[in-house]
Amino acid sequence: MNDHWFAAFEPRQPLTIIERKADVGTDARAAPATVTFDDGMNPTDAPIEPAARLLLLYSSMTGGTRQLALAASEAARRASCASGNEGLRRVEVVLREAREADGGDLLAASAVLFATPENLGSMAGVMKDFFDRSYYAALDRVAGRPYALIVCAGSDGQGAVRQVERIATGLRLRRIAEPLVVNVGAQRAREILAPKRIAPDALARAAELGEAIATGLSLGLW
Ligand SMILES: Cc1cc2nc3c(=O)[nH]c(=O)nc-3n(C[C@H](O)[C@H](O)[C@H](O)COP(=O)(O)O)c2cc1C
Repeated sequence: MNDHWFAAFEPRQPLTIIERKADVGTDARAAPATVTFDDGMNPTDAPIEPAARLLLLYSSMTGGTRQLALAASEAARRASCASGNEGLRRVEVVLREAREADGGDLLAASAVLFATPENLGSMAGVMKDFFDRSYYAALDRVAGRPYALIVCAGSDGQGAVRQVERIATGLRLRRIAEPLVVNVGAQRAREILAPKRIAPDALARAAELGEAIATGLSLGLW
């Protein structure tokens, strides 16, 4: 199923999800679960799909990455509102700061969107700390799960991309989109330390990414 589809994200171009082979519906409808409601009754016994969880994990010092993560999570939540119907999987969207997250969050996630600043040519220390605390709890237990990455950078971003991708490769997570690198044009100390305001087109790209991941989860594409 999973190799039938892939998502490609080109910078400044609309998202394209390309169908490579036929029939997305089959797996999305597989293995329905019966849900018992809180009152102990299950009035319809209607089969509904088990929930998938999208974890948006971010850290931010001057607000840029946070705005991108929020844009992605709001769009993912909007997309997930339509889930749970007509054989689609329900999607739960969880937005969490890396400092508050641990390996349990990673294990519970069906897909992860990491969002980090680039600081000193690296991912943010807080995000690295998250991986340090979670890596061995997650190793061999999250292989194949989809992930995507947003990096908010002053002028570059590639160092953070390389680092996160290397760790994700170690965990054998599956990259489902090109990393989204948002450059805020901050190179001098004053600009770097100032609160950030992310441009609408960059927020739109983050939203597109969040929506695409949530939609893919709901369809059972990944
Ligand atoms: C200590 C420090 C080091 C930084 N190093 C880099 C860097 O190596 N490359 C880069 O592109 N931006 C660098 N920046 C700029 C940040 O990536 C930029 O300010 C970004 O907006 C940070 O994300 P945030 O607003 O979510 O904190 C650095 C910022 C700080 C505070």
